[in-house]
Amino acid sequence: MVVGAGIAGLCVALAAAPRPVLLVSRSRGPAGTASAMAQGGIAAAVGEGDEPVFHAADTLVAGACHNHVGAVLDLALAAPDAIDWLLSLGVPFDRDDEGHLSLGREGGHDRARIVHAGGDGTGRELMQVLVAAVESAAHVQWLSGRALQGIGLCAGGRVAGVRISDEAGRSDVISTPDLVMATGGIGALFDTTTNPEGADGAGLALALAAGADGRDLEFIQWHPTAFALPSGRHLPLVTEALRGAGATLVGDDGAALMPGTHPLADLAPRDVVARRIWRHRRAGGRTWLDARRLDDAAWRQFPGVLATCAAAGIDPRQQPIPVTPAVHFHMGGIAVDDAGASTLPGLHAVGEVACSGVHGANRLASNSLLEGVVCGNALGARLRGGSDAGARVRRWVDAGPPAPAAARETLSALLTDALGPLRSGAALSAGIDAIRADAALAGSWQGRLALRLLAPALARACSLGAHFRVDSGAAGNIRHGIETAAYGEIA
Ligand code: SIN
Repeated sequence: MVVGAGIAGLCVALAAAPRPVLLVSRSRGPAGTASAMAQGGIAAAVGEGDEPVFHAADTLVAGACHNHVGAVLDLALAAPDAIDWLLSLGVPFDRDDEGHLSLGREGGHDRARIVHAGGDGTGRELMQVLVAAVESAAHVQWLSGRALQGIGLCAGGRVAGVRISDEAGRSDVISTPDLVMATGGIGALFDTTTNPEGADGAGLALALAAGADGRDLEFIQWHPTAFALPSGRHLPLVTEALRGAGATLVGDDGAALMPGTHPLADLAPRDVVARRIWRHRRAGGRTWLDARRLDDAAWRQFPGVLATCAAAGIDPRQQPIPVTPAVHFHMGGIAVDDAGASTLPGLHAVGEVACSGVHGANRLASNSLLEGVVCGNALGARLRGGSDAGARVRRWVDAGPPAPAAARETLSALLTDALGPLRSGAALSAGIDAIRADAALAGSWQGRLALRLLAPALARACSLGAHFRVDSGAAGNIRHGIETAAYGEIA
């Protein structure tokens, strides 16, 4: 059984053939998945003079070398073949006038290395092809409109089944010895996010409640440039590729924000850029992305951004775009080994809900669709030979009741403050105390999950990648190297 139908879940389902797969998801098709919303593309060393080892090096630098090096090398080495595989399925990657793959550049990459499809519509294009492939795969049965409610464990403690429910609240119990969690991220727990509504962390909460270990749960990536709508939790992304094409971040007075903060300026790793904007905001300033210098040919790569801006009455060819940091990606998740197996026998995880260590403390741009394809295919292939003989469920685990709506609002404000781009021990402690003091929150699955995120962030007193402690002092920020030592980023 595979839960979640983003790119990672679909790839597992396809690659597991001919073993029968039951695919369970809330929605069906690209809509509602974070994968389909991805504007960035897929990073792969396919350009002239590029090598997987250069891609791996950039992944490690962005991840503050907190990465699992073997996983990074495997990902970078597999990336060119992943592009070939997607081409063979019919993904229409963008090409230049000579027919070569067009390569874009994004933050943290030392060169143009990102392939796109439909300009900034890569996720949508990929999902359309993969959804069609899964729809026509005879070995996959797809049950949509379903949510995972509980995990059943057998006498030996292995996964033996799941309880799912439909939109009318009817539940079903299904036996399975292999459960793959591909349930995505946690952005919907925060005040602002680029993730869809379904990215609420429910899958992660359930896996942790069932006893699977978590890893690196404190590492949460804020994308520097979500479109700053006046209200609303779910903000459209303004892709980093715009900065790769020459757009710059400016304040209200039009002065560039990034020079002097990092040698790569606007193309610094996104944690660095997000912190710069967050500081500017705390000082009362707004941030704009000035893309007016892009020519018509460049704008043809960004139909999605043009549409987002048009819907808000902005013409980005004439006016700067208002932007704000928003939660974008969870580097932490269910701890998995190189085979995608969690510490709970029979529970596997892949994509954003999993933590293999590949992203370290901060994910490099355009490595997430890549991870979904590479790790999804690898996990599906490994599970191909399994046996479906199921043991009996002896014990059911659920994640706890949902928090009431008002408590969820309290929680998202608290998490945004405590787990934002700039963190402090005081805010983290205050967040933990506030959850414990609120019985409705403390007993809810959202509250329990929040405590699992806050506790390691409090315990990690030093800054590392996306986890930046303003109270750690110069010694604590040593891993930020150039950024902190030479450019005085220490608060
Ligand atoms: C972006 O297009 O800026 C985001 C790409 C990514 O998340 O890797």
